Amino acid sequence: MKEKADALHKEFLDRLAGLSDTQALENLRVEFLGKKGKITQLMGELRGVSAEEKKAAGLLVNNLKNAVQDRLKERVDELSAAAFDAMVSESRAYEEALLIAPARGSFHPITLMQRTCEEIFRSMGFTIEEYPEIVDDFNCFQALNIPEFHPARDMQDTYYLDNGQLLKTHTSAAQNSIMRKYGSPLRAVFPGRCFRNEAVDASHENTFFQMEGMMIDRDISIANLIYFMKTMLSEVFLRDVTVRLRPGFFPFVEPGFELDIRCLICGGGGCPSCKHAGWLELCPCGMIHPKVLEYGGIDPEENSGFAFGLGLTRLAMMKYGVKDIRTFNSCNLKALSQFANA
Ligand code: PHE
Repeated sequence: MKEKADALHKEFLDRLAGLSDTQALENLRVEFLGKKGKITQLMGELRGVSAEEKKAAGLLVNNLKNAVQDRLKERVDELSAAAFDAMVSESRAYEEALLIAPARGSFHPITLMQRTCEEIFRSMGFTIEEYPEIVDDFNCFQALNIPEFHPARDMQDTYYLDNGQLLKTHTSAAQNSIMRKYGSPLRAVFPGRCFRNEAVDASHENTFFQMEGMMIDRDISIANLIYFMKTMLSEVFLRDVTVRLRPGFFPFVEPGFELDIRCLICGGGGCPSCKHAGWLELCPCGMIHPKVLEYGGIDPEENSGFAFGLGLTRLAMMKYGVKDIRTFNSCNLKALSQFANA
């Protein structure tokens, strides 16, 4: 009996040493102390022991049972203490990450996109201009060849203020004052926040960013427009992009275009990300309408120019793979701080 009890004790200790989760400990307990457990069976064997040996044998098995129970309990306590420590340090690391992220600060992905584009245009001789978010009807529409009641206004559901001013619906609202500021020749880009009364969903926002650009000089042609767009987009996406122009209507450009880039994911073959078109619509643009040059004090007989309205928000979605436009205005630091090094 003593040999059996010692052997069982040894087996138990050996097995226990290799276990490190509570479920395995419970299995071991059942194996030794359960109804059909090895120690329980050993107790059953006491029935066959002679009367004079019974007391000593009973004590032996009982001691074994107690020793195993105590050791199991100790091990469970050790394991749960370790699990608790791990949980605390994990949640502390999580909190630290949350606390450190805003403490260190990181740029909003739109800001990163804007600065990238600004740098690229600056290197090509463009100035960076600022313009207010509250503008008047003349700058937002009339100076862009969109008179009152023109149907093109329906495309831009506008927030009007009580005093007759409005929140700019597009960065084109700055064109007139920049033409008046510099005259010809000029190269300027002007980023800005725009507002339209849109129902918000994964791909529509009422508050979004554009970056407008204009280049005006003698003999500016569509070839110049294509060159600057292609160069800029290739630098944004860090690879050679293929562009194409389709006709598009905007009253302030003639001819007007929609500029597409060949899908960077499938290379034009079609995939979910380009909705199987092979091309992505990226940037409306065109040659500045003579009337708009005239409103800006520039002689359309002597000068020509192009303008484009890059969707900065859309560009950031493409570059950073953001699927839901609402992320940008969400204030969700976890989502917004991850692009800092992108
Ligand atoms: N302002 C236009 C829009 O937001 C885009 C545009 C800009 C088109 C410049 C042509 C030239 O819809």
